[in-house]
Amino acid sequence: MPHCQLLQADRQHLPSYVAALGAGWSADNVRGAAAAAEELQGIRDDPDGFIASLYDPDATGSAIKLPDGSTVPRIPGFVRWMWDGEFCGSVGFRWTYGSEELPPHCLGHIGYSVVPWKRRRGYATQALKALLPEAKGLGLRYVQITTDPDNEASQRVILAAGGYLLERFIKTDHYGGAEGLRYRIDL
Ligand SMILES: CC(C)(COP(=O)(O)OP(=O)(O)OC[C@H]1O[C@@H](n2cnc3c(N)ncnc32)[C@H](O)[C@@H]1OP(=O)(O)O)[C@@H](O)C(=O)NCCC(=O)NCCS
Repeated sequence: MPHCQLLQADRQHLPSYVAALGAGWSADNVRGAAAAAEELQGIRDDPDGFIASLYDPDATGSAIKLPDGSTVPRIPGFVRWMWDGEFCGSVGFRWTYGSEELPPHCLGHIGYSVVPWKRRRGYATQALKALLPEAKGLGLRYVQITTDPDNEASQRVILAAGGYLLERFIKTDHYGGAEGLRYRIDL
């Protein structure tokens, strides 16, 4: 199986990330092209600031924009890039210290997205598995991941990493109140 590693973003790896954005990929599954355009602009304006924003365990960064246009305060988090010689996707992790709780608008501890031209190589599964020891190291007893009922690929990624279905739930109005699936992975 091809292998991808996780790395923290830096200037050296940035051009490959920019190329993926330029090819139409975005880590934001909900806001898609609009989010990609905003990121490209942010990278042009301040590439080092953009890179720094991807590691933010003290939640010092700007507010998070939700799909309905509202903004909410950031919680601690970081983003890692999947890399197999070039950028393949990203996995984000956010948490609150001392608790497994998340704000109601925050859809899970972990989110991931693989560029369309590198899917079905096992990369998302490898990335999720690689992140779990770090989550455990932060004191979390479990992580929760949410996905849409029709997102079979994401559900299989979670199951392959040891997750199980916890419940069906209704997303907050920020996301249009649609149904979601909440999975848990015990650490
Ligand atoms: C979900 C996503 C990250 C999966 O990435 P990936 O690297 O292709 O996943 P993997 O190669 O690790 O595949 C994991 C499992 O999903 C299965 N799978 C992958 N794509 C699939 C698809 N389109 N339909 C059905 N099953 C799929 C694989 O066969 C594998 O199953 P297995 O463990 O039983 O062998 C990728 O499709 C993606 O980026 N989608 C858009 C963003 C997204 O939906 N993110 C998740 C939000 S919750």
